[in-house]
Amino acid sequence: MPKASLTTEPSKVRCLLHRSAAAFAVLAVVTLGGWPSTADETPRPKIRVRRDIMSLAPDGPEMAALRKAVKVMKGRPATDPTSWTFQANIHATLDKSNPAWNQCQHGNYFFLPWHRMYAYWFERIVREASGDPDFVLPYWNYVNPAARALPEAFRVPADASNPLFVAERNADGGGVNNGARLPAAVAASYWLPFRLTNFATTSPTGAAFGGRVVDKPVHLMSTMGAFETYHNAMHVLIGGESGFMSDPFGSARDPVFWPHHVNVDRLWKRWLDQGGGRANPLNDRAWMDMKFPFFDEKGRKVEMSVRECLNTEELGYRYDDDPSSAAEPRPGPIAAQAGPLKKLAVSKVPGELGTDGPVRVTMDLGDEAQAAVRKDGNLVLFVEGIKFEKEPMVIYEVYLNLPAKEPADFQSVHFVGNLVFAGLDPRAFMAHHGIKKKGQKKEADETYLSSLRAFDVTDVVRELRARKLWQDQQLTVTFVMNGLVPVKGRPVTSAGVKAQFERVTLLGN
Ligand code: C2O
Repeated sequence: MPKASLTTEPSKVRCLLHRSAAAFAVLAVVTLGGWPSTADETPRPKIRVRRDIMSLAPDGPEMAALRKAVKVMKGRPATDPTSWTFQANIHATLDKSNPAWNQCQHGNYFFLPWHRMYAYWFERIVREASGDPDFVLPYWNYVNPAARALPEAFRVPADASNPLFVAERNADGGGVNNGARLPAAVAASYWLPFRLTNFATTSPTGAAFGGRVVDKPVHLMSTMGAFETYHNAMHVLIGGESGFMSDPFGSARDPVFWPHHVNVDRLWKRWLDQGGGRANPLNDRAWMDMKFPFFDEKGRKVEMSVRECLNTEELGYRYDDDPSSAAEPRPGPIAAQAGPLKKLAVSKVPGELGTDGPVRVTMDLGDEAQAAVRKDGNLVLFVEGIKFEKEPMVIYEVYLNLPAKEPADFQSVHFVGNLVFAGLDPRAFMAHHGIKKKGQKKEADETYLSSLRAFDVTDVVRELRARKLWQDQQLTVTFVMNGLVPVKGRPVTSAGVKAQFERVTLLGN
């Protein structure tokens, strides 16, 4: 897809994502009733409407129901599957004593369906605990520039009387709990994953909306699907250094995990709505038939397959901005890499990512690289050998050929994506898998030895060439730190950030 359509596409997408609250209200009224039974006599569940949290009053009945339920769940013992702790542990915990825990799917193409099921079963438990038979989880749509601060109900009042408040959140920029906001380059760059039309890929670069194909649920943390990377940036910036959200073991302990993941679930639907071949891999049997265990509101163990979760109306919910009639789902193909990637160019010196302004690395483009660029094939940028003592709780915007005097702008033609460190910390990965020693398992090896981030730069290079912003013999890659937008004062440069990478490589085929 040429970059030109890439710049027009976001606005098209954006209007879909920002309907007015009034339109939501009308939709909600007409769709709340039950469905008439269909010819095959399968009873259709009652359809409830998941709403934009910005359209709900922080002290209104919906948030009151959520507060009540979270309080009830927090009061239950961790052994109870309907308790707050048990539910959080289903995602991840360092405690390996219960086989029902540590189920979260990351770094593979089960990421989206697994988290959909997780939110679905959790929502049933919350509904029961809230006493409100119509309860649904709201979504936090940070794509909307007016909704980039943590929703108020989760931070006011900021004390133990509020079951939705936790102190364990990013303190940068005056603090997430005081209204520090997600930066636009992170929250608005959903169009990076949205421009991808394939849900899954077998390519090790993970260049797909939904993630990499695996035959059994494993975590391949180095190369995540593009949308998972987008979602990771919110986790990092909301959790910060010692918060829950940035730690896979802690994330579901923060109540805001849920409005975040409900939004992720909704954006999966909005991606499908964009058409242009965007579709779930319905012909992939392994994906469709994969089952995961959860618990219902009575604490009974249940199983759900990916196939069973694809139509949210069959699960009894829709979103307030779902189109009134969606196209019949068609199977989408799984992308494969067109031939092996060849190394075309490598940066000369290792890079040091710190706090002092943009970091630039250059690489010489030899004959082979120049020929590959002219041929207009796929081009991928690898940032390889990423290392840090402490996982940086900031992200880096990555640019190609950004002129030294030009300010970094994620909406410019130079932007290729955000470098997000989440998932690259080997200690977290090993703890999650109960791996004690480095190198003990092949899976672990694969993860650390290739601690890299991949960026598909095909479109960007093509567009830079079209605009005469390309240089035949040299490529510059610029990294610009970004973090929370502070409540007041200067933009965040999280103190003491230190990370290294060994090299930046341009590959192609
Ligand atoms: Cu399993 Cu947003 O995380």
